[in-house]
Amino acid sequence: MSYPFPHISPVWSRSNDMVAVRGEGAYLYDQNGKRYLDFTTGIGVTNTGHCHPNVVRAIQEQAARLIHGQANIVMHQPMLDLVEELKQVLHPSLDGFFFSNSGAEAVEGAVKLARMATGRPNVVVFQGSFHGRTVATMSLTTSKTIYRGGYQPLMPGVFVAPYPYAYRYGWEAEQTAQWCLNELEFLLMSQTAPHETAAFLVEPVLGEGGYVVPPASFLRGLREIADRHDILLICDEVQSGFGRTGKWFAYEHSGVRPDIVTLAKGLASGMPISGLAAPLDLMARWTPGSHGGTYGGNAVAAAAAVATIRTIREEKLIENARARGAQLLAGLGHLQEAFPHMIGEVRGLGLMIGVEFRGPGRAPLAERAKAAVQAAFARGLMLLTCGTYGNVVRWIPPLIVSEAQIAEGLEIFRQALGEC
Ligand SMILES: Cc1ncc(COP(=O)(O)O)c(C=O)c1O
Repeated sequence: MSYPFPHISPVWSRSNDMVAVRGEGAYLYDQNGKRYLDFTTGIGVTNTGHCHPNVVRAIQEQAARLIHGQANIVMHQPMLDLVEELKQVLHPSLDGFFFSNSGAEAVEGAVKLARMATGRPNVVVFQGSFHGRTVATMSLTTSKTIYRGGYQPLMPGVFVAPYPYAYRYGWEAEQTAQWCLNELEFLLMSQTAPHETAAFLVEPVLGEGGYVVPPASFLRGLREIADRHDILLICDEVQSGFGRTGKWFAYEHSGVRPDIVTLAKGLASGMPISGLAAPLDLMARWTPGSHGGTYGGNAVAAAAAVATIRTIREEKLIENARARGAQLLAGLGHLQEAFPHMIGEVRGLGLMIGVEFRGPGRAPLAERAKAAVQAAFARGLMLLTCGTYGNVVRWIPPLIVSEAQIAEGLEIFRQALGEC
């Protein structure tokens, strides 16, 4: 595709040349007034839909009152309110908070906290993970080589264990999870000793790496191994958080308590704010002044986050995510039956669903996935791909999505599959 915006850096790879001028609910509108069903939600950000009135009102009112109150200098009410809201939705042990601007900053902060609190240097990540694009977080990222190629050397002290991507291995889910846990134990015996390992950093549902849902036994196993060695368990909920998977956080599906949780994307419906939550006694081991940032916990963004959390609760959007997720999963399952030569697997939790394109001999069909996304776009449905091969079409509709909109999205996708 030719690049129509010559002064915007081409480092932003683009899937289309649309200029979005307005967003409302599940829809985006372009310059010509054409309406698109946005099932990308800006990569899992606008969970309450575009420009939810509650969020808009909170932003407008806070912008007129106080825009910036720097956290080292003053405290402001939206941050205090946000802490109260987060305490209600996270595990009760996670009662200490730090705020930053992006998902990568949240993950980097979590790793810095883990290193300082444990006095240990190394971190174990899991194959296929995506944690961000700063030097530290791209070093923790293994979903695609494009994120690291040309930027070496990376941050040392990162070790990679397998993630239970059962379909890729061609094994049964529980067997794959057990194999992964065994490999992790082996890694601790062979490459990074427990007394040198600060944390396991894991996405409870693999995002960018292909929308892979591990069995609950995997996270439970990680917790057990971590406890045995006093290693911290960090759950990166940047993409899977805030109702996306049909619970407030994806770690809840396995009943596991993380030591640190990273938050961003869906936290504030599009305002740039991120954060991490950890027990206060762990936070107390983080030397004051050794981490921070000018904008972290910005007042307007924090007000948007408060409005977002309240809206998710009041409008029962998590219940909706479960119901609409079941509808979408079933509909995509029918499309898999109709297009078995193209679709190898449909999987997901709540409204975080992946459609993996594989051909004969399980060959990844990246071009087909891309063609399907483009054909859907031409018909007014916005989707994204993910996965190491780029052969997984990911479905991340807003949590406000209606039954009719899911049905419309499925029908457009059926036509797009027929075309490609
Ligand atoms: C699981 C996860 N962690 C971290 C990040 C990085 O977030 P950001 O792009 O806001 O830095 C992402 C972004 O997609 C993500 O999906």
